[in-house]
Amino acid sequence: MDHLKLVNPFVVGKYVSDDFFCDRQTETEFLRKQIVNGRNTALIAPRRLGKTGLIRHFFAQPDIKENYHVFFIDIYATNTLSDFVCLFGKEIFDKLKPLHKKRMERFFGILKSLRPGFKLDLVTGEPVFDIGLGQIEQPRTTLDEIFTYLETADKPCVVCIDEFQQIMNYEEKNIEALLRTKVQECKKTLFIFSGSRRHLMNQIFNSLSKPFYQSVISMDLKPLDKSVYSDFAKKLFNEYGKRIHPDLFEKAYDQYEGVTWYVQMLLNELFAITREGAECPLESFDVALRNVIQIQESSYKDTIAQLPTRQKPVFIAIAKEGIAMNVTSSGFLKRYGLGAASSVQAAIKGLLEKDLITRTEKGYRIYDYFLAEWIRWNF
Ligand SMILES: Nc1ncnc2c1ncn2[C@@H]1O[C@H](COP(=O)(O)OP(=O)(O)O)[C@@H](O)[C@H]1O
Ligand SMILES: [Mg+2]
Repeated sequence: MDHLKLVNPFVVGKYVSDDFFCDRQTETEFLRKQIVNGRNTALIAPRRLGKTGLIRHFFAQPDIKENYHVFFIDIYATNTLSDFVCLFGKEIFDKLKPLHKKRMERFFGILKSLRPGFKLDLVTGEPVFDIGLGQIEQPRTTLDEIFTYLETADKPCVVCIDEFQQIMNYEEKNIEALLRTKVQECKKTLFIFSGSRRHLMNQIFNSLSKPFYQSVISMDLKPLDKSVYSDFAKKLFNEYGKRIHPDLFEKAYDQYEGVTWYVQMLLNELFAITREGAECPLESFDVALRNVIQIQESSYKDTIAQLPTRQKPVFIAIAKEGIAMNVTSSGFLKRYGLGAASSVQAAIKGLLEKDLITRTEKGYRIYDYFLAEWIRWNF
């Protein structure tokens, strides 16, 4: 089979195929083992490490595609159960394509409450499913219908709910209890719950008082192995008639602690600025970094502009510090002109809640490495 040739093989933000996806064999095996044995799984790791990519990769495995119906919903932007069932319904409908009459009949036969969303596209005449927010009046009914649909499908279904911790922010109370009940009633359908906010995910899955306790296998994700990732990068450069300086990959990996998104972003840019037949030199690192950060600049400006007055100087101080250890020490407060320790502590609490900073063993740091660089350059 001919392999797909991309303009730039270092893909960011989507899953294309095996050829552009590095490793994750052990993790894919682990997931396969859980699913094949009928176990639900919770995948927990910081943002941008590769959770979504791993699940897409797992869902693209030939045996999984063959033996299961797979569904993927990212609930990051949902705020209510109604949003949730709307997204879920749309995903199921999208997976019915190409749309056969029979499949559609089954869909709307069971998901009766979604029928108002069924329309014919005015231009193409194709059937489309377009249910507006707020159009789902009884989300619990729709949720029941969705589960009935999944449980009566001709093959077992695997559902990934990405950014699952978002259910903790829903306007309705105890959605996790409702979902747990639904999930545990399933005889055939399996779930992968993926999330980046560890304490929220732990609250949902591991705490005795909370309803998902002991109902799922928990799985961590670590950065890709350095040498495996390095070989992957070199191989792709070579396949496209380019080379990369031997220390360049290592520099990118080390500087961003192997967090996949940052490394991929840099590799993508390093590849782009290297002529065919040439080797990408070590000096290209700074150029590539500036270029990728430049692209994000307007969103960084927004982030800073939206910070409350008291959080902003603390945020900038942490960025400049790199890793801020004693944030209430007089040295730190003086160095950045921060005022009282108590107000710094309050600011840190706010920044942690928004996921803008994170706490590591060594101290606080800005969650987004590139944003931290940008602040160091501009403030
Ligand atoms: N194994 C991998 N090989 C190559 N690129 C990857 C791999 N895993 C993730 N990526 C890329 O890294 C970026 C971050 O991964 P993603 O899966 O979105 O992280 P998360 O869901 O944990 O936030 C994405 O752009 C994705 O395309
Ligand atoms: Mg993700």
